[in-house]
Amino acid sequence: MKRTLLACLLLTAAWGAAADSHVAFPTTYRGDFHVKSMVIQQGHPLFEAVGGMHHLYANKKALAGYKAGGKFADGAVITFDLFEAVAQDNAIAEGAHKAVLVMARDSRKFKATDGWGYQVFDPKTRKASLDAKAAAECHACHLQQKDKGFVFSALRD
Ligand code: HEC
Repeated sequence: MKRTLLACLLLTAAWGAAADSHVAFPTTYRGDFHVKSMVIQQGHPLFEAVGGMHHLYANKKALAGYKAGGKFADGAVITFDLFEAVAQDNAIAEGAHKAVLVMARDSRKFKATDGWGYQVFDPKTRKASLDAKAAAECHACHLQQKDKGFVFSALRD
């Protein structure tokens, strides 16, 4: 009986570890360092995936990684905050909040994607939508930036 209980506990611990391979919603990203913003319009290769206006935010560890030329330590989180881009009165403004994309650094948890965990959240429900296969597709494109720690953006002067 005791043994069964122990086996049960070990199994639960193993499940727990496996379930821990997810990326957490970055609840405080709006207070993180603003790296840059960009509007992606029709005709751009990324329009289907992330068309609209986005802002990138880096937490403290991610900021240190940018400053180190792409050496991101575990715990670094970069958030890609995506909105509709609405043209009005000769200006382009933020429209509806479309998605929150995240790259989170953990070299142990996300070994399969070179240490970066990828996720896309619904901004309202904070529900995650990517499975491991979709995350691998994110990484396939970010691989181009291998010499910059798999990150495209850079700090401004
Ligand atoms: C076809 C290429 C491509 C794919 C696929 C792609 N990205 Fe990116 N990603 C980019 C580019 C280009 C940028 C830089 C945007 C900018 O400069 O504002 C970027 C930027 C980012 C950033 C900010 C950090 C950085 O690299 O500058 C995050 C976070 C991010 N992407 C998450 C994702 C997630 C999550 C997925 C999968 C759902 C994904 N990306 C798929 C090309 C891609």
